[in-house]
Order: sequence, then structure tokens, then C-alpha cells
Amino acid sequence: MRLNGFLLAAFLASIAANLLVRPAATGPNFEFIPEMVRTSAFKAYSSHPDLPGGRTLQLPPAGTLARGRRDIGFGPGEAEALRAGAALANPISTEDLEAAARGGEMFRIYCSPCHGASGRGDGAVAMRGFPAPPPLNSEKALAMKDGQIFHLIAFGQKNMPGYAAQIDPVDRWKAALYVRTLQRRLQAPPPAPAAAGATSEVKP
Ligand code: HEC
Repeated sequence: MRLNGFLLAAFLASIAANLLVRPAATGPNFEFIPEMVRTSAFKAYSSHPDLPGGRTLQLPPAGTLARGRRDIGFGPGEAEALRAGAALANPISTEDLEAAARGGEMFRIYCSPCHGASGRGDGAVAMRGFPAPPPLNSEKALAMKDGQIFHLIAFGQKNMPGYAAQIDPVDRWKAALYVRTLQRRLQAPPPAPAAAGATSEVKP
């Protein structure tokens, strides 16, 4: 086998270089190409002499959407909520049982902590000092169009925060559908009193 003279020389030279630059037992190690160790790029949280606000990390340009998100074409605020109510219809069929179940799941996870499982406004958070929401069969909520509820889930309303980051648009529609289900239950007349005879055991 023939030795590659150049590789051998390079190998021996690297060993020699290694011995030459060997650090003192207590000193820091030798840095070969220090720019690789400490890049000239600014760290995300370091200050920056040239950028607005002196910060390296800048806000994304207005209108930037996170990957996988779509612009729903509405901004925050009451006027936009009304516009959404007039322009948007719930694309989810009330016959879609899977969607109904998903809407219920979304409500239990994201809404019931304040609104309560049945929508009476008695969720655990509301019971511990957070301003309690009105019951979901308030006059205002009953009069809301589906698109308005969709907008409300995305952007919130007064003390209610928006859930656009947690609930994607399709699930927002399903949650809105579930709000309707709860409203129907809350509006249902109370069950008829038990028939005479069935109450005999409570008679004195
Ligand atoms: C952090 C507590 C909180 C959570 C969580 C929450 N809400 Fe609300 N919600 C409120 C409050 C408070 C109001 C009353 C806002 C106001 O004063 O206009 C409200 C109002 C509403 C209204 C209108 C009621 C009305 O009479 O004006 C609807 C509908 C509604 N929420 C649906 C939802 C849905 C659906 C979810 C889950 C995606 C949800 N909320 C999550 C606190 C919450």
C-alpha cells in the first residue's frame, strides 16, 4: 500500500500544532477559529445598536400569520363582531354529530372554566373572583348571530380573552354550535312536576 505523502504530512503537522498550542493546565482551552465559537450574529435577546428599540428580536411585520393559520378577514372590536355576524354563517351542519362532540369538547376545555359546563356563568374561575360572565342565554347572547360568536371566540369581548391562538377556525365554529346547544337547554322549560301519586312518599 502506498502512503499518501500529503495526508501523512498534514496528520503529523496537526499533531505538532496540537502539542504546540496545548493550553496550560489551568488556562482556557485554545480556540481554533473563534468566530465559530462566538458567531458575529446577534443573539435573540441581546441589544442591537441598529434595530428599532435597540432590540435584536423584532415583532413580525403587521399582518403576519403563524404557519398554518389563515386570515379570517376580521379585526377585533364590536363593529367587526357585528360585521362578522352579518357576513358569516356557520358552515358546520347541526346534523354533524362528530362536530357536535368536538364543539362540546372545545367548550369543556376552553369555555367551561368561566361559563360553567352548562353555560350558566358559574365556572370554577368565575367562582373564584374572575368577573362572572352572563349566562349564555342572556338576551344579548341569544340575539348574537353565529358569526358574531365565531368572532367573539377569536377576539374575545371585554373581560373575555380571545381564543384564536388555541382554537382553530373550524373548531371555533363547532364551539359556536355548542353554544347554541347550551342556549337551547337553558331556554327549555323546566321539567313538568311529577305526576300525582309519584310524590306520595314525601307526604307527611
Ligand atoms: C376567562 C373567562 C372566560 C372564558 C375562558 C371564556 N369566556 Fe366567554 N365571556 C367571559 C366574560 C367575562 C364575558 C362577558 C364579557 C362582557 O362583559 O361583554 C363572556 C361573554 C361571552 C359571550 C357573550 C355573552 C353575552 O351575554 O354577552 C359568549 C357567547 C361567550 N362568552 C362564549 C364563550 C366561548 C364559546 C368560550 C370558549 C371558547 C368562552 N366564552 C370562554 C369570560 C370567559
